[in-house]
Amino acid sequence: MKSAAAPGRQRRSAAVVPPPSGIASMLSKRVVGQPSALEAIVPYVQVYQAGLAPEGRPAGVFLLLGPTGTGKTKTVEALAEVLHGSEKCLLRVDCGEFQMEHEVAKLIGAPPGYLGHRETQPMLTQQKLAAATSEKSSLALVLFDEVEKAAPSLTRLLLGILDKATLRLGDNTTVNFERSLIFLTSNLGSRGMMKELRPDFGFTAGAVPPRVDMDRKLESIGTGAARRKFPPEFLNRIDRVITYRPLGERALAEILDQHIADFQRHVGARLGPNTVDIEVPPGTRRVLLRKGASPACGARELKRTLHRHLTEPLAALVSGGALEPGCCLRLVLNERDGRLVLEPETAAAPADDGY
Ligand SMILES: Nc1ncnc2c1ncn2[C@@H]1O[C@H](COP(=O)(O)OP(=O)(O)O)[C@@H](O)[C@H]1O
Ligand SMILES: [Mg+2]
Repeated sequence: MKSAAAPGRQRRSAAVVPPPSGIASMLSKRVVGQPSALEAIVPYVQVYQAGLAPEGRPAGVFLLLGPTGTGKTKTVEALAEVLHGSEKCLLRVDCGEFQMEHEVAKLIGAPPGYLGHRETQPMLTQQKLAAATSEKSSLALVLFDEVEKAAPSLTRLLLGILDKATLRLGDNTTVNFERSLIFLTSNLGSRGMMKELRPDFGFTAGAVPPRVDMDRKLESIGTGAARRKFPPEFLNRIDRVITYRPLGERALAEILDQHIADFQRHVGARLGPNTVDIEVPPGTRRVLLRKGASPACGARELKRTLHRHLTEPLAALVSGGALEPGCCLRLVLNERDGRLVLEPETAAAPADDGY
């Protein structure tokens, strides 16, 4: 198994680091705080685009490990957006839906003559793979999300895809995965990682270890868990094992800012001429971060927190019909009861300090 954060990579001098490619910079705007993950993935896209990908195997196979809500699934969605123009343009298998052996059969379809042969369309066909490409790129992204949840026969089925880029379907036809990047995401080891990140669970209080040491520790917890779960012949077929870092305060704040900007665009698109401006002052953003971000869930709950404290109150105001088109609303903390309230901006708005 090759690992993304090889020590040599960190010691590389600034002078020899190539300038970030278009893809790398577009990706890093969407996936925050995971530079080494993106550094590991982007070259495989470039090798494919240059026509240099090997024959007889997928253009790249990645195992993405790390704590929940740190951007593993988001990375594949963001790459789909960058390559094909839509986050949804990928072939996605939610492995949690294939926990039983008979469910795995749905991926390849039943052989002719077997029950369900006609009714069940296999999920992994050449047509479905082609549907995950676009005019912009012929590279299909295939995501096996939370792969540790699937029945063991999925691992066997994956062996053929990872090794020879082919999958034999129930009707004996084959699917070719040479023009695809395969991503396997997994929460393997994330409990052990949490313990490492929250030493207050035990009695190992003291100095917080430097970031590089922590990254290495998490990486070894992740790869150790992967070794216990998957056979060596499976792990040997993976090009890069990448451990995502826990997101720091700055990264989480940046993700929240993105969500708020996305929400304002969404409001503009949906309300059209009746749109309103929404202001979320820095102090309120801090409150939203406290409510929505945690080491246990990373950035995963931030969207739900915004929905509750911003989308829902705005919807109530819109459906009440009392909003002036073009007015400005501000989300503020009511000091008395600690609630966030969305109120029309008045001339005398309270001053707010930075983050
Ligand atoms: N590094 C990140 N950059 C940008 N958004 C992120 C990042 N990590 C998590 N998010 C946000 O949290 C949500 C859940 O993240 P996801 O990638 O699904 O987590 P996981 O690592 O568990 O697969 C994403 O849809 C995105 O909105
Ligand atoms: Mg995920």
